[in-house]
Amino acid sequence: MPVPGPGYSITVRLEAPPSASAAGDLTSAVGRVGGVLTAFDVVESHSDVIVVDITANVLSADHAEDITKALDTLAGVRVRKVSDRTFLMHLGGKLEVTPKVALRNRDDLSRAYTPGVARVCQAIAANPDDARRLTIKRNTVAVVTDGSAVLGLGNIGPAAALPVMEGKAALFKKFAGVDAWPVCLDTQDPDEIIRIVRALAPVYAGINLEDIAAPRCFEIEARLREQLDIPVFHDDQHGTAIVVVAALRNALRVIGKPIEKCRIVVSGVGAAGSAIIRLLLRKSPADIVAVDIEGAVHGARHHLDDNLRWVAENTNREAFSGTLHEALVGADVFIGVSAPNLLGAEHVATMADDAVVFALANPDPEIDPLEAQRHAAVVATGRSDYPNQINNVLAFPGFFRGLLDAQAHQIDDEMLLAAANAIADVVDDRLNASFIVPSVFDSAVAPAVAEAVRAAARGEEEVASAS
Ligand SMILES: NC(=O)c1ccc[n+]([C@@H]2O[C@H](COP(=O)([O-])OP(=O)(O)OC[C@H]3O[C@@H](n4cnc5c(N)ncnc54)[C@H](O)[C@@H]3O)[C@@H](O)[C@H]2O)c1
Repeated sequence: MPVPGPGYSITVRLEAPPSASAAGDLTSAVGRVGGVLTAFDVVESHSDVIVVDITANVLSADHAEDITKALDTLAGVRVRKVSDRTFLMHLGGKLEVTPKVALRNRDDLSRAYTPGVARVCQAIAANPDDARRLTIKRNTVAVVTDGSAVLGLGNIGPAAALPVMEGKAALFKKFAGVDAWPVCLDTQDPDEIIRIVRALAPVYAGINLEDIAAPRCFEIEARLREQLDIPVFHDDQHGTAIVVVAALRNALRVIGKPIEKCRIVVSGVGAAGSAIIRLLLRKSPADIVAVDIEGAVHGARHHLDDNLRWVAENTNREAFSGTLHEALVGADVFIGVSAPNLLGAEHVATMADDAVVFALANPDPEIDPLEAQRHAAVVATGRSDYPNQINNVLAFPGFFRGLLDAQAHQIDDEMLLAAANAIADVVDDRLNASFIVPSVFDSAVAPAVAEAVRAAARGEEEVASAS
C-alpha cells in the first residue's frame, strides 16, 4: 500500500478552540484518514481561538480533500486555507541569475560593461579558446529538452517540462557547483533541435540532453557529438547506465559472483535500457538478453530499428526468442527499465540462486521490491522509500564537474566506466545487500566522480595530442 511522502505535502490553516484537547483532536483527525502529520504550528493565539498550521504528507488531491474535510467537521474548527507546499516551492521558479561582480559605481561599471568589456571581447575574437577563461562558458551547461518524454508523464511539451529542468539545474549547482540553465525547445524535429543547439553552443561548455524520447534521442545525441566541440550527454541514457553499472558491481560483490559468469536480462530497450546494455557489454558479462514490449530482441525479429539491430547483434548469444518470464529462468541478474508490475515473486523464484533484481521503472517498479526480496539476494529500485535507490543524481553533477574541469571536448565509455567505479568505490566497507550505492546526499560522491572523470578526460586528451 502506498505511503504518503513529502512530494505531496499540504499545509491547512485553521481556527480551533483554545482547549487542552484541541491539538490531540486535530492530529488524530489527520491520522484517522491516513495523512502523515509532519508539523503542527500555532501561528496566532487569542483568548477564544487559536490559528494553527497543520502540515501533512498526503497521497493525492482526493486524499488532501479527505483530510481537510476531517478537520473542518471537528466541533469549533474552521479551515481557512489549504496550501500545496510543492506548488509554493515552485512559485516564480527555482532559479535566478546572480552577478558575481559588484556594480557599485562608475568604475565598476566601466570594467564589467562598456567601455572596458570591449577589450575582453576583442581578446576572445582573437583567440576563441579564451571564452572558457573569460566568460561563463567555463562553468555553464545547457539542460536541453523538447519535452517529449518528461519523467513518466510522456510528451507534455517544453513549457510543462520546465519545472523538471529547473530542478535539474538546481541539482547541478547544489552537488557540483555547475551553472546549468534550462533550454526547453518548442520543436520536436531532430534537425531543428540540432540546428538550435549548435547555434547556442558558444555559451556552454557542455550539453545535457534531458527527457527526449527514444529513438529520436539517439540520433540527436550522435549528430550533436559529431558537430560540436563540447561534450554532449543524454542523462536518461548515460547517467542511468553509470549508476546501474556501479550498483551492479557492488551487488555482485555482495553475492560473490563475477560478472563474466552472469546472464543478465534487461527489460526495456529504450533510452535507459540501450545505454545500460552498451556500458555493461564493456564489462564482459556471460550474456545479456534484452526484452522489450514485443519480447526478446534477436536478429531474426522483424522491424528492428538501428538501435535494436545493434542490440540484437551484440547480445543474446543463443538467439533466445521468448517472453520476459521465459528469459528470466536461470538468469543471474534482472535489470528493469520498462514498465510497472511485469513480474511477481514466482518469476524471481525461477532465477539462479542469489539473484540480483534492479526494478527501476518509475514511479512503480517492474516488481514490488518486497515481493522481489522473497527470492532475490539484492534488490534495487528507483524509489527513495526503499534501500538501494538507483538515482542519476549520483552521476551527472560530478560527471559534468569533471568534464568542465578538464575542458573536455567529448565523452567516451572510459569516462562513463570511471564514473561508475568511483560511485561504487565510495561505498567501500559499508557494503551490504541494502547498501550497494551511496546516498545521494553523501558529499564524497560528486568529488570522487569528478576526479575520476577528470583523470579519464585528461588521459584522452593526452592520447589525442600524442597521435
Ligand atoms: N534511475 C532510475 O531509476 C531510472 C533511470 C532511467 C529510467 N528509469 C525508468 O525506466 C523506465 C524506462 O525509461 P526510458 O527512458 O528508457 O523509456 P523509453 O520509453 O525510452 O523505453 C521504454 C522501454 O520499455 C519497453 N517496455 C514498455 N512496456 C514494456 C513491457 N510491458 N515489457 C517489456 N518492455 C516494455 C519499451 O518497449 C521500451 O523499450 C521508466 O519507467 C523510467 O522512469 C529509471
